[in-house]
Amino acid sequence: MISIAPGRTLFRAALATAFATAAAACGGSSGGAAPKAGEPAAPAAQTPAASPATAAGPQLVVYKDPSCGCCSKWVEHMKTNGFAVEAHDTSGVDGIKDQAGVPQAARSCHTGLVGGYAIEGHVPAEVVRRLLREHPADVAGLAVPGMVTGSPGMEGGTPQHYDVIAFTKDGRTSVYEKR
Ligand code: CU
Ligand code: CU
Repeated sequence: MISIAPGRTLFRAALATAFATAAAACGGSSGGAAPKAGEPAAPAAQTPAASPATAAGPQLVVYKDPSCGCCSKWVEHMKTNGFAVEAHDTSGVDGIKDQAGVPQAARSCHTGLVGGYAIEGHVPAEVVRRLLREHPADVAGLAVPGMVTGSPGMEGGTPQHYDVIAFTKDGRTSVYEKR
């Protein structure tokens, strides 16, 4: 699907509705700088050659809205922590979430895929590493629902405590880690 200006506007309106409070924080950067339509997603090949640890790290594929500033900040957080990130801009993140089985109540902005797991929203890199280390068979993915101030990529303002949720393929959720 090609993202054109009216579609983007609709999507942003939907986002604003879904995350009314969070949108203020997340949309802060997108409000000022107009996103360039048709700007291609950064190819994975752009991984800096200067840091060999990045190339050797877990492969993380991220689907995000091109106008979301906090998504890009989370991508940077994951790269900084050694993940080899392949980021895709799309206006169809909901379809990705459906495919990945992310429960409605656990949804956030971007969705990542790593090691057979889905990573929804601003999950800290070290919690993702713990997931990959422990490799629980009954878990489909992790999520930080909504947009929590103080989570990676959502810095600024007063940091909030939050739960990193684990969800199963059949939609059961549990607290994986408290932050
Ligand atoms: Cu976000
Ligand atoms: Cu995001």
